[in-house]
Amino acid sequence: MKLLVTGGAGFIGSNFIRLALAHGRDDQIVNFDALTYAGNLLNLADVTSQAGYQFIKGDIRDGDAVRRALEGCEAVVHFAAESHVDRSIYEPAPIISTNVGGTLVLLQAARELKVQRFLHVSTDEVYGDLPPGSCADESHPLQGNSPYAASKAGADLLVRSFVRTYGFPAIITRASNNYGPYQFPEKFLPLMICNALEGRALPVYGDGLQERDWVHVEDHCRALLLVLERGRDGEVYNIGGGNPEKNLTMAKRVLNALGRESSLIEHVADRPGHDRRYSLDCGKIRRELNWKPTISLDEGIAQTIAWYKQNQAWIQQVKGGEYRRYYETYYTHRDVALQAVKACR
Ligand code: NAD
Ligand code: DAU
Repeated sequence: MKLLVTGGAGFIGSNFIRLALAHGRDDQIVNFDALTYAGNLLNLADVTSQAGYQFIKGDIRDGDAVRRALEGCEAVVHFAAESHVDRSIYEPAPIISTNVGGTLVLLQAARELKVQRFLHVSTDEVYGDLPPGSCADESHPLQGNSPYAASKAGADLLVRSFVRTYGFPAIITRASNNYGPYQFPEKFLPLMICNALEGRALPVYGDGLQERDWVHVEDHCRALLLVLERGRDGEVYNIGGGNPEKNLTMAKRVLNALGRESSLIEHVADRPGHDRRYSLDCGKIRRELNWKPTISLDEGIAQTIAWYKQNQAWIQQVKGGEYRRYYETYYTHRDVALQAVKACR
């Protein structure tokens, strides 16, 4: 089988390709990725020369390029997206353009070329903030609260409309916060690890009592392979780690694991509109596909810290120009940047 993976040079996409190749599941995997600041071919350096793997640089908003890449593909796993909530707050337009517009282009091309299975990789953020004690199953209303979450909810609804209107064979998965190797250090856990390794302050937004459910990227990718193989067309599957944790506790876990003082934690101005709590009911994927996460949070954090320690060259490469500019603007001068967002400057 020939599989097109969009966004395969990013964090989850590259872990997925590595796992899919290791499973020997597909004859051919085409990685279609625009290589934005978040895409990095170094993430796949160990599999690049493997038989059956092909990389095509392209943008999912470019219909012709997408159709060419899709030639002969029977299935699509769609990861490509602008995935960072904070960036979506600072500059929403590119996020909507890729996550909604790009998904539409891809859906149209995949339908035209009679793709038999389309797996749209989405997020628990589409369900919005959940009150303590509650969790969202797949029928929970969509209420994305950041431009990123809204764009993913919009894309989910487009996928749903293609299923309903055209009988298009698509499936949606909604995962909780992923962590693990190759995650770009603008995201919480790698940012905390990298700063702690350098002895720099760990910037925790607001009171740090926001709660996320952490799933190791390998567990997520195993779930995606199962859904690709055995999921039912038109269905939605939640994929959560079952590891709810407050951000502040996560930061302390990192410091503990590295033998650093918790005085390195610095509470900084909160993310505007910050969702307090996400929580998924994952009963459906457990019952239907017999999936459950296998990597405990303790084990996963230790393994992730070890990976970042051992991959300093990768860190130096990704923390080049764009990352430095981003960090300087939104951390070093955070109050100024957030004032500008408020004042719409
Ligand atoms: P990432 O930012 O690490 O990677 C995104 C990849 O998409 C990059 O390689 C980038 O170059 C590529 N890309 C961006 N715009 C593109 C475009 N217009 N055309 C082609 N390629 C483009 O993201 P990630 O964390 O690996 O997330 C992958 C997917 O999983 C996203 O759809 C995200 O919404 C979803 N998701 C992420 C998480 C998480 O915790 N990271 C959780 C649930 C769902
Ligand atoms: O829930 C799934 C989502 O998880 C995915 O859909 C997104 O693509 C992914 O980026 C992630 O979104 P979050 O906003 O939850 O992840 P992030 O790593 O940006 O932040 C995690 C939590 O940590 C969140 O409550 C904000 C907080 N935070 C984040 C950063 C970067 C901090 O306190 N300090 C920080 O410096």
